[in-house]
Amino acid sequence: MLVVDIPFNKPYMTGKELWYISQAHANGHLSGNGLFAKKCCAWLEQRIGSRKALLTNSCTAALERAALLAGVEAGDEVIMPSYTFVSTANAFVLRGATPVFVDIRPDTLNIDETKIEQAITTRTKAIVPVHYAGVGCEMDAIMDIARRHNLLVIEDAAQGIIATYKGRPLGSIGHMAALSFHETKNIISGEGGALLINDPHFVERAEIVWEKWTNRSQFFRGQVDKYTWVDLGSSYLPGEILAAFLWAQMEEADAITKRRLDLWATYHQWFASLEKKEKLRRPIIPRECVHNAHMYYLLLPSLELRTAFIDQLRAQGIHAVFHYVPLHSAPFGQTMGRADGDMSNTVSASERLVRLPLWLGLEEHLTTVIAEAVASVH
Ligand SMILES: Cc1ncc(COP(=O)(O)O)c(C=O)c1O
Repeated sequence: MLVVDIPFNKPYMTGKELWYISQAHANGHLSGNGLFAKKCCAWLEQRIGSRKALLTNSCTAALERAALLAGVEAGDEVIMPSYTFVSTANAFVLRGATPVFVDIRPDTLNIDETKIEQAITTRTKAIVPVHYAGVGCEMDAIMDIARRHNLLVIEDAAQGIIATYKGRPLGSIGHMAALSFHETKNIISGEGGALLINDPHFVERAEIVWEKWTNRSQFFRGQVDKYTWVDLGSSYLPGEILAAFLWAQMEEADAITKRRLDLWATYHQWFASLEKKEKLRRPIIPRECVHNAHMYYLLLPSLELRTAFIDQLRAQGIHAVFHYVPLHSAPFGQTMGRADGDMSNTVSASERLVRLPLWLGLEEHLTTVIAEAVASVH
């Protein structure tokens, strides 16, 4: 019997990563903000249209930095979905804030913008929409709520690179945004991320928070004659080796996205008939969103059927996985945060969603994966 072993994720490398790393090595600048880092930041600023892009060691670090810049402090509340990764909440809990969780929409599994306003109190400081699976949240409605209540919007665009909402790149709409280049994402550097600043008001402090609490960036530009401790911050700069790796990926970002979209579309087409028979639900992409094929997921009718589906695929050597455990019911989430209103869509997605393998190179196994997946739906 032919035994396959198809992982859930396999990091894709373009082939140029080591060449650019050798250039960084030869250039002799290995700390942060070198030539490759500058290329990456310029690419992000140009592609996303942010006022300023600053690389970080992870999306987690970018969110923590955004929380610092936003001036989030003890007693503040930050509204976000519960159906997200821990870092979305933890970045704000680190500053002493309370995450206030609201339910997600049943279609996109993004924060339900109609539930945000009722969660606002006099302590609310910010809203953190998470663009799940690279599909944009209802940003017009969210920005309107933020404007009316004088709140900041920090997009968690960890999964959102190159995707758009109403023609605007994800990460360009809120006051700030965070991207991830973790090896499970579309564009990778192992660990890695970026903070995007769209509100010009945050640009100067963003550099200070990034550069170990100092105005070193201004010093290097000749704007001040010495650099010194001027604010609260941390060390968030990745070194040049990581940036060199990332640059190889950015150069091929469009080609990578295209191949992912092709894989996604093949999955989508093959599961259409099972959706018609109400055996599962496929992802829904609203008309105003162009997604980036970060993820292909299915929603099965129940937790039991999902467990059986994952087990059956695993027995065939194919690794499909479930996703977030809701933060409002996690032990630390219960202590540090609170749920506002009914969370039934969150609980339902958490129990029923399964992610299928999606990585460049899967093309040659895709027929097998789809055949086994179809056979595992009951
Ligand atoms: C929505 C979301 N936010 C934040 C993160 C954290 O990203 P990183 O691993 O780059 O810190 C992830 C990671 O998967 C994520 O899915």
